[in-house]
Amino acid sequence: MFITFEGIEGSGKSLQIVRAHEYLLKKGRSCLLTREPGGTGFGRELREVLLRPGGAAREPWSELLLYLADRHQHLKEVIEPALARGEIVLCDRYQDATRAYQGAARGIAPDAIEDVSRLLGVIEPAKTILLDLDPEAGLRRARRRNSLDPAAAAEGRFEDEDMAFHARVRRAYLDLAEAYPQRFCVISAADEPDVVFARIAALIDQWIYG
Ligand code: TYD
Repeated sequence: MFITFEGIEGSGKSLQIVRAHEYLLKKGRSCLLTREPGGTGFGRELREVLLRPGGAAREPWSELLLYLADRHQHLKEVIEPALARGEIVLCDRYQDATRAYQGAARGIAPDAIEDVSRLLGVIEPAKTILLDLDPEAGLRRARRRNSLDPAAAAEGRFEDEDMAFHARVRRAYLDLAEAYPQRFCVISAADEPDVVFARIAALIDQWIYG
């Protein structure tokens, strides 16, 4: 089963996905935790280029093709082999991030993204957890984290975008959730982390154990 976690900056998804992974391992499930960009050796090199604040200017399509290069490598090297072994795969961001950031926020036509992705064999996850949060609150959290953690600050390219950009990302995620109600579960990320995780654990139990 392929499960992705999505959300705007500062939505807490990276913390929650680690907890979900630990939860599944404790239950004795074989489960792989991975992320995009950067789920492979080549992907980690791309991640550096994609997320470094102050990196050189790039066209939306140039950025899109690098995210898709990361995804293609990740699918072939990590995700598809793990699914073939029968593992649960948890991925921190995936194709919906491309739809929201490069599509809605950077302005690339959705059909164009779908066409190129189809050529590359991009598969859809079975389930997607969207941690939804107001962008003002998310950005506040993300910028605080960056001021305390130099490693996070070194990946802060998108935190430098303005509020209108992040509002478009959030709107796009909510529109995707509405368009694919079978796949998406929207959880408010405004609550305490333990409360958010309890909701995620309940969903996982429902998906895995029916
Ligand atoms: P992430 O590591 O999840 O950062 P954070 O923990 O700060 O949310 O994601 C890195 C950034 O990459 C994030 O700002 C969104 C961006 N991104 C895209 O623009 N397109 C994509 O396809 C993916 C996977 C990520």
